[in-house]
Amino acid sequence: MVSRNRKEKSKNSNTRIEKAKIEDAVPFLKLEAKCFEMQFSKVSLYYWRPVIDYCFAFKALYKKKIIGGAMAMPTRDGRIYVSSLFVDSKFRRSGLGTRLLNRVLALHSRKGHILDVKDDKPYLVSFYTRHGFRKKRIVRDYYSDGSSRLIMLRLKK
Ligand SMILES: CC(C)(COP(=O)(O)OP(=O)(O)OC[C@H]1O[C@@H](n2cnc3c(N)ncnc32)[C@H](O)[C@@H]1OP(=O)(O)O)[C@@H](O)C(=O)NCCC(=O)NCCS
Repeated sequence: MVSRNRKEKSKNSNTRIEKAKIEDAVPFLKLEAKCFEMQFSKVSLYYWRPVIDYCFAFKALYKKKIIGGAMAMPTRDGRIYVSSLFVDSKFRRSGLGTRLLNRVLALHSRKGHILDVKDDKPYLVSFYTRHGFRKKRIVRDYYSDGSSRLIMLRLKK
């Protein structure tokens, strides 16, 4: 137990969060696909490269390797939409997801932050609730596997 905690702490202290750059797109999006158990497709680069370049993207690094990321974009009604948050499974549960989310929450927005969660992962709802998000609306049968889309909103403090 002690050694696990030590290992996690040392992993965490050797990690850093930086803005992602367009050159990071391939490893960044490959890791994102792996974390969401999806196939990486080169076609997705046409859409996501501009998001990395013109919107907001942060990468978590461990020894220069990308081990996590977050992407966000401004919405037309003055919010920041958190479009993605992911951490390599080997590095989870050591605070990295929280650190990435905090970078996104520190972005200025007039009317707060918004995100979507698949409602089949209750721990994610608790995770975002702890970070000040509240359930706003549910859209049933939204995802291809039949799960619902829970829209969560964090009002500007
Ligand atoms: C969500 C995700 C980014 C969290 O990353 P992380 O680095 O583990 O986050 P943290 O270490 O900051 O964890 C914060 C807390 O969330 C909760 N949590 C995270 N993963 C959990 C899990 N699998 N089961 C239960 N609780 C979990 C825990 O309360 C955890 O705190 P604790 O470890 O002190 O108990 C990561 O699990 C992930 O990449 N998941 C796959 C992609 C995904 O679903 N992203 C979110 C889309 S809305």
